[in-house]
Amino acid sequence: MSWLASIYKERLPVLQIGKATGKKVRLCGWAFRHRDQGGLIFIDLRDRSGIGQLVFDRSVLGEHFQAAETIRSEFVLAVEGQVRSRARESINPRMATGEVEVLVERFEILNASRTLPFELEFAEVGEEHRLRYRYLDLRREAGMEALAKRSHLSAALRRFLEKEGFLEVETPVLNKSTPEGARDFLVPARLSPGSFYALPQSPQIFKQILMVAGVEKYFQIARCFRDEDLRADRQPEFTQLDMELSFIDEERIMALLEKMWARVLKEVFDLKIKTPILRMTHAEAMESYGIDRPDLRFEMKLVDVAPLVKNSQFQVFRQTFDGGGRIKALCVPGGASLSRKDIDDLTAWVNRDFKAKGLAWLKHEVDGLKSSISKFFSESELRAIERATASRPGDIVFFAADRESVVNATLAHLRLAMGEKFGLIPPDDFRMVWITDFPLFEKDPDSGAWHAVHHPFTAPAPEDLPILLDADRFEREGQHVRSRAYDLVVNGTEIGGGSIRIHDATTQSAIFRILKISPEEASERFGFLLDALSYGAPPHGGVAFGLDRILMLFLKRDSIRDVIPFPKTQKGHCLMSESPSPVSPEQLKELRLRTMP
Ligand code: AMO
Ligand code: AMP
Repeated sequence: MSWLASIYKERLPVLQIGKATGKKVRLCGWAFRHRDQGGLIFIDLRDRSGIGQLVFDRSVLGEHFQAAETIRSEFVLAVEGQVRSRARESINPRMATGEVEVLVERFEILNASRTLPFELEFAEVGEEHRLRYRYLDLRREAGMEALAKRSHLSAALRRFLEKEGFLEVETPVLNKSTPEGARDFLVPARLSPGSFYALPQSPQIFKQILMVAGVEKYFQIARCFRDEDLRADRQPEFTQLDMELSFIDEERIMALLEKMWARVLKEVFDLKIKTPILRMTHAEAMESYGIDRPDLRFEMKLVDVAPLVKNSQFQVFRQTFDGGGRIKALCVPGGASLSRKDIDDLTAWVNRDFKAKGLAWLKHEVDGLKSSISKFFSESELRAIERATASRPGDIVFFAADRESVVNATLAHLRLAMGEKFGLIPPDDFRMVWITDFPLFEKDPDSGAWHAVHHPFTAPAPEDLPILLDADRFEREGQHVRSRAYDLVVNGTEIGGGSIRIHDATTQSAIFRILKISPEEASERFGFLLDALSYGAPPHGGVAFGLDRILMLFLKRDSIRDVIPFPKTQKGHCLMSESPSPVSPEQLKELRLRTMP
């Protein structure tokens, strides 16, 4: 066996030299940090497992020492040497292998490296740079940690689901469109000119069809594609843990999922979660937090103050109330320290982003609630606001008076911004909550059209079926029809959602009718699902979790891009491979496509 072959065969992960004092070891990796002291060169060797110090000594290596002098950052090395304890004064307590070093006896430079475009140890590297050289970015500890956790997470989920009797089934990527509310990515079909596949927004229809097939318990770690505007927690392609079960109801599915996350989060992130997980209805979340994914790490609830101020002299409130709007308040502990300019900036922000017409406020001073509008309220009205919002001296109470959706959006975002600003959000806490009883439909305020809040296959609550089946009643009360959907929210991020599905073709057709999907269109788009539902579909339901979001949350990263091996930018570009890119005229011709200028 050649020397190098023996190195490959017997190579030890660098991290393990910590436990190999006195032994001969063989290591491979990259030259990370590097110190030259004349006849002695110290190099921190890095592999996936960790970092360890190598010592190249002229008196040991003789003529070969010259080669050691040519080693630069990120050169690839194979070494053989003796592990020895470091002298007391050179122990590095910040390094897992900091008590030992390897005295190199023989080595080979396996490859050189150009000078890196950025220092691997320097934290503040522009993201564009990091994404362009993603392979270097991934060499850093944070990059490798994300890859490893991702792998452990999938493996732990697979182990759990396998034990619970789930089958992992792959569904197609070249697909017909599945409605999840986003735009489809399309792929032209060469063999059917003018026709396109849609990449799956989720495996929704296929997993339901697998229930009709009799799979009973399905899961898949599935790549999903959605052509929507990107944000810090959204990517055009992302990964779901997708699940579906037959003969199931909300209670059983939530209990199973709680067991799964309790086990897996402990295993992968050493995190203990409390079960049963708290539940909150959609109505309660909207009322108290103004949003369907409340961050429960801190209190600060929104308070309905309409009953207290509807008769006040403040015209804005009176008119809003008389016009059928809502008036809610938010007390910010310590917020009285906000300056006039701070408040003006907040007012401009809520106006721009949430269309709020204004942001009234009262500061709680020693002698009660005060501001330029306090004169419009009687002493007893001010007292009532104080009591209802539980405000104390030093606090500020903000008010939004508007359409319900504007009030909620304004105060929900103000709550988060103020929680952040005043340090009210404990960063190491994880608060999970199920949101239940979502409305099944929402009405577009402009067009008056009904949309599915979740997706059109979600079952309605049985109590609300009569509203659904009576067209007149539906027009009046449609927004009150509840669905059998549930979301799992952690610290204000929706990590998963699912529902019990419609399993009979009649109800499914009724829903399509309400969504103004004509029988022809329904049959064209989902005919195969309607067909399948008519051949003995079992009652079924399921859920999908966003694995990228879960990793981002539990690894405490700011961006979803940090936990995706090769992510896209906000504009949907891969800076490393430079996709998307134009294709050759021949390719277009073959597909019978022409692009518009
Ligand atoms: P939904 O559309 O709620 O449900 O998606 C499920 C979960 O997927 C994650 N997610 C995303 N993550 C990153 N980038 C995105 N663009 C993105 N979009 C969604 C979220 C979300 O909670 N078929 C249904 C599930 C079901 O009913 O079983 C579905 O896809 O964490
Ligand atoms: P104005 O009477 O327009 O000068 O407003 C007095 C205060 O009420 C200002 O602080 C405004 O920001 C606030 N305000 C105006 N309209 C609203 C509204 N719809 N909701 C909450 N506050 C408002």
